[in-house]
Amino acid sequence: MLSGISLCLLAGAAVLVEASTIDIRDQGLEAFIQAERKIALQGVLNNIGPNGSAVPGAHAGYVVASPSKDNPNYFYTWTRDSALTLKMLIDEFILGGDKSLEVYITDYVHGQAVLQTVTNPSGSLLPSGTGLGEPKYNVDGTRFNGAWGRPQRDGPALRAIALITYANWLVEQGQAAKAKDVVWPVISNDLSYVGQYWNTTGFDLWEEVDGSSFFTTQNQYKSLVDGAALAASLGVPCAACGQAAQVLCLLDQAYWNGAFFTANVNLKSPNGRVGVDANTVLGPISVFDPAVASCADPSVQPCHSRALANFKVFVDTFRNASLYPINAGAGPARGVALGRYPEDVYFGGNPWYLITLGAAEFLYDAAEQWARQGRLAVDETSLPFFRELYPAAAVGVHERCRKSGPFRAISDAARAYADSFVAVAQRYTPASTGALSEQFLRREPGTPLSARDLTWSYAAFVSMAQRRAGLFPPAGWTSAAPRLPSSCAASSAKGVYAPAAAAGAPNVTVGCVRNVLFAVNASTYYGENVYVVGNASALGAWRVADAQPLVASNYTAQRPLWFGQVALEAGQTVAYSYVREENCGQPWLWEQGAGANRTVVLPACSKEEEENGTGEEPFVVTNDAWVGPVGSSGNC
Ligand SMILES: *[C@@H]1O[C@H](CO)[C@@H](O)[C@H](O)[C@H]1NC(C)=O
Ligand SMILES: *[C@@H]1O[C@H](CO)[C@@H](O)[C@H](O)[C@H]1NC(C)=O
Ligand SMILES: *[C@@H]1O[C@H](CO)[C@@H](O)[C@H](O)[C@H]1NC(C)=O
Ligand SMILES: *[C@@H]1O[C@H](CO)[C@@H](O)[C@H](O)[C@H]1NC(C)=O
Ligand SMILES: *[C@@H]1O[C@H](CO)[C@@H](O)[C@H](O)[C@H]1NC(C)=O
Ligand SMILES: *[C@@H]1O[C@H](CO)[C@@H](O)[C@H](O)[C@H]1NC(C)=O
Ligand SMILES: *[C@@H]1O[C@H](CO)[C@@H](O)[C@H](O)[C@H]1NC(C)=O
Ligand SMILES: *[C@@H]1O[C@H](CO)[C@@H](O)[C@H](O)[C@H]1NC(C)=O
Ligand SMILES: *[C@@H]1O[C@H](CO)[C@@H](O)[C@H](O)[C@H]1NC(C)=O
Repeated sequence: MLSGISLCLLAGAAVLVEASTIDIRDQGLEAFIQAERKIALQGVLNNIGPNGSAVPGAHAGYVVASPSKDNPNYFYTWTRDSALTLKMLIDEFILGGDKSLEVYITDYVHGQAVLQTVTNPSGSLLPSGTGLGEPKYNVDGTRFNGAWGRPQRDGPALRAIALITYANWLVEQGQAAKAKDVVWPVISNDLSYVGQYWNTTGFDLWEEVDGSSFFTTQNQYKSLVDGAALAASLGVPCAACGQAAQVLCLLDQAYWNGAFFTANVNLKSPNGRVGVDANTVLGPISVFDPAVASCADPSVQPCHSRALANFKVFVDTFRNASLYPINAGAGPARGVALGRYPEDVYFGGNPWYLITLGAAEFLYDAAEQWARQGRLAVDETSLPFFRELYPAAAVGVHERCRKSGPFRAISDAARAYADSFVAVAQRYTPASTGALSEQFLRREPGTPLSARDLTWSYAAFVSMAQRRAGLFPPAGWTSAAPRLPSSCAASSAKGVYAPAAAAGAPNVTVGCVRNVLFAVNASTYYGENVYVVGNASALGAWRVADAQPLVASNYTAQRPLWFGQVALEAGQTVAYSYVREENCGQPWLWEQGAGANRTVVLPACSKEEEENGTGEEPFVVTNDAWVGPVGSSGNC
């Protein structure tokens, strides 16, 4: 029996070579992919500073989400979109050998080292890393100050994953010193952030839901295990990496509901959604490791039976022709246009290119994992997924070595199914330009919508095309993967943060700080925002453009509360006031009278506090009430 298996695996090696050359059934699709892949790669590069033709003003290494400056304004650099884009470019650089891409990578390393030190409304790098959770910055690398869904905790994990891929390549090229001295310090800050905050809530990848998010948890896990393997090879410590086992436990326990992965849990406020969300299909492709030894690995790879079952539930949700008329009449195992989640109303709630392409990538990835493992297992959970591809599918293990039989038939059907999602994207891509916006209309004619030339759409096209062409990222963490704990526990590792000086970060320093929770009662209309401004740099030095935005997540009619926490240097008196940002371009409103003369006293730190830092607890909680003019809606 044992020798039978190894013979089977040997025979399978030849099949693997065939795998990437079969299934070109649609020459039209093949030609489209070849042409569009070049357009998409150029589309990405056009959106990166300093030379990107579509984004004048962006500084070196900053990836702009889209050149669109209004309706919607995406002319910012998001940590998440940038990291996913760079992961694609780093793969392209390593797998495709395009040396001209390395300058984008080194610019990115430098640019992110600097951004890590920029104090922003989420906080600062020092002393406790809170600023790393900031979702987006201006394209010149300065802080973005508007009200926003923050913090977002997937960004540091995704940035670490991208940079670890590059650092591993440097090590293989004999440049371990550069990996250790220049790149690792940036990664280390991000891993510290993940290890410290993975067990607290934040906003999801769509920037709407405050809670724990499947995509975020999954990427946090990958960052810590890949980080542990890199740290070991560089001979550096990674205290945060020890959190990986508990992150895996949360991933395993918190999201699966027996039928699909609930995208967001631990919600701060109910969101009225069923929980079916592209979040849970994009996560597995983001953490994809072609060399994973088993599809049962709890990291939830694309070939995991829960991931496959979840994929079917997600795709079937969009087969509903009342929801997406554009998908009417698509038969089983034929690709359809896919959006974020069924309740979506943003820009009308339409299909997204990057999600439709992500579905294709998901299937290419799963097929590759079956091929490398030489087998695929069908269980009760994944049976409906497999039946759609191959109606005779039954629970059991199918070996690749059989020339005809379920393994071949299912793998071929999965790749054909993947191709049919690409064909959907092709149908709604403007033939004359190949330009990919964010969305396309959910009914015919499927007109492109929302932000034009979306960097993430282009990056998703290229990574899909890499996988389809048989280009897979190098093996990741398997050596460092922890065992799934028998019971889950809340935990956190205190992070160690320092500016990544060798990568060009400025030498920011911090004295001892006191956390202040500003809380003010201020009745506001929908669309009006409240900020705190004062004579400390974290409070904008009296400039409203740099004021600290407050949040209204606890606002009720009884208690119209706006609040936010800010770390301020200890040992000083700080003057502050609240300001209202009005809608429709009306001027800001300032407090008057007593409201114009508020102060808070922050005692100096003891020697011990200087050494240990003063922790997370707010030192002072203000209890203020707005004094001054009340705003009115501009009705624009
Ligand atoms: C941008 O242009 C400058 C000047 O030609 C060049 O030195 C630099 O390498 C370019 N950067 C990128 C990312 O292409
Ligand atoms: C923290 O971890 C515990 C144990 O896994 C889990 O029950 C809880 O939901 C987690 N909370 C957050 C916000 O991650
Ligand atoms: C199909 O979509 C419509 C419109 O969103 C919705 O009201 C209906 O419940 C959906 N049907 C199913 C079976 O989910
Ligand atoms: C950074 O500044 C601090 C305080 O001014 C100083 O003690 C430290 O040596 C500096 N570090 C570097 C790397 O220049
Ligand atoms: C907001 O509400 C949450 C949940 O009730 C509570 O834990 C938190 O302390 C509140 N925050 C403030 C500033 O009142
Ligand atoms: C800020 O204002 C307070 C109160 O007027 C004053 O004591 C403090 O010195 C000021 N701080 C700075 C940095 O000007
Ligand atoms: C501001 O408040 C301080 C302390 O309450 C008081 O001494 C001072 O006169 C006030 N200044 C103004 C302009 O109201
Ligand atoms: C400061 O850190 C030291 C060493 O970790 C610890 O023994 C001490 O209890 C800490 N003090 C405070 C006030 O947290
Ligand atoms: C703010 O509102 C709460 C709830 O009504 C009240 O208890 C508190 O005293 C108010 N604060 C001020 C400064 O008026």
